[in-house]
Amino acid sequence: MTGKTSVISQDQLNIQKAFCDKIAAIWQKEVFEPTAYVETYGCQQNEADSEKIRGMLIASGYIITGSPEGADVVVMNTCAIREHAEQRVFGNLGALSHTKRRHPRQKIFLCGCMAGEEAVVSRIKNSYPHVDGVFSTHHLWRFPELLHRVLTQKKRVFFVEDEAGSIAEGIPQARDNTLKAWVSIMYGCNNFCTYCIVPYVRGRERSRRPEDILQECREVIADGAREITLLGQNVNSYGKDLDMDIDFSDLLQQIAAIPGDFLIRFMTSHPRDAGKKLFDTMASEPKIAKQLHLPFQSGSSRVLKAMNRHYDREKYLSLVEYAKSVMPDLVLTSDVIVGFPGETEEEFEETLSLIEKVRYDSLFTFIFSPRIGTPAAKMEDPTPKEEKNRRFDKLCNLQNAISEEIHSSYVGKTFRCLVDGKDKDLLTARTEGGRLVRFEGDDSLIGSFTQLTIIGSGTWSLTGIQKKDG
Ligand code: SAH
Ligand code: SF4
Ligand code: F3S
Repeated sequence: MTGKTSVISQDQLNIQKAFCDKIAAIWQKEVFEPTAYVETYGCQQNEADSEKIRGMLIASGYIITGSPEGADVVVMNTCAIREHAEQRVFGNLGALSHTKRRHPRQKIFLCGCMAGEEAVVSRIKNSYPHVDGVFSTHHLWRFPELLHRVLTQKKRVFFVEDEAGSIAEGIPQARDNTLKAWVSIMYGCNNFCTYCIVPYVRGRERSRRPEDILQECREVIADGAREITLLGQNVNSYGKDLDMDIDFSDLLQQIAAIPGDFLIRFMTSHPRDAGKKLFDTMASEPKIAKQLHLPFQSGSSRVLKAMNRHYDREKYLSLVEYAKSVMPDLVLTSDVIVGFPGETEEEFEETLSLIEKVRYDSLFTFIFSPRIGTPAAKMEDPTPKEEKNRRFDKLCNLQNAISEEIHSSYVGKTFRCLVDGKDKDLLTARTEGGRLVRFEGDDSLIGSFTQLTIIGSGTWSLTGIQKKDG
């Protein structure tokens, strides 16, 4: 039994399964093989959700295609994190009115984080009549029911009521990549960073039961996964809502104990909740990648307070110092926001100095984007756009130089890498730290670990050769 977290019952999920069967029966009767296209925006959480949407579509008789043109179902799984992300979705959604005109039986759905915003839902209702259905992340598990209603009742359906959130286990999942698997360990977020829309559109933090997570990990490993990435908005608070004594480090240890040759990654860690126990666990367990994505957002303690991040510059730096002391080869990456409302030039300089001090392998860099309904959107923001752009460019130039320097220090070293694909004529692989390496090799290597010696480097990637006895 879970504590505060509500779980969707097996009966309810069986009803959804019955809707899949009913839809499949419609197509069988018509002797028609319908096709479906799912487009994903945003983070890995959405990628993982799209795998479930594809799973439910396949269970309903659909064949997944790579383009919206001619598809019988199109699902846009959207991201609301910044305004730019939303504009792209609206642009692409507008274009779908043409694909639908060419293929009138096409059914179009919008889901994901934008479907959790009231303003978006009204805009779709009023200005995008070609969208047949909308469902927020809380209602993802009810997609078969929604699809069935749209197909049989010939009217638009909206599953968008706001909810604190629940957990649905056992939704069919069509994984994109059997070698590298996403496994969600928790959903939602309780942190309410003042700039961020995620808690509003994904609901409260809720952890999956460890036995369900372990079972999924065993399954993906049996299916050939060599890398598992555990997902959550703040993985370090895993387990707090469960009625049992388990934290994220305990979960990591239990997953690492599963037999097999695989690597565990996870994201995202929050500096408020990450600590010595996590870093000691990472250091002592060979199956956990020595890679940490630890967003800092700003180098200024005043800005961090205004962001409601619950740590200051000193705490962040001491965390990094400890992590590096127990894992000398740790690869660190992070997220940073430039131009938070009221950020002064001096505060921006503090962000630059933190980057110089920590020396990240790479950074995800963002310019503050006001999101309606969040506290930061109402804060006074006197800094002109041009000034924010200047700060952004300066920060990116600094980080690019650091990435290049760190990457060039890899030259001559040998790393155990997972060969994960092919890009043009070269194979691609990832170091344990997650760095991209391209090298010449036989396609049969894809899916295995191999030793690569680095012979060249750039800002974004490395080149390597296979070590002869590797
Ligand atoms: N849960 C993760 C981050 C999820 S969102 C964490 O707490 O670290 C990914 C990144 O998008 C954030 O780390 C932040 O850097 C950026 N971001 C979120 N909201 C933003 C906004 N309104 N404007 C600009 N960047 C934003
Ligand atoms: Fe957003 Fe903060 Fe939650 Fe991350 S921790 S999802 S930035 S509110
Ligand atoms: Fe975007 Fe939602 Fe992820 S807003 S970043 S898709 S949690």
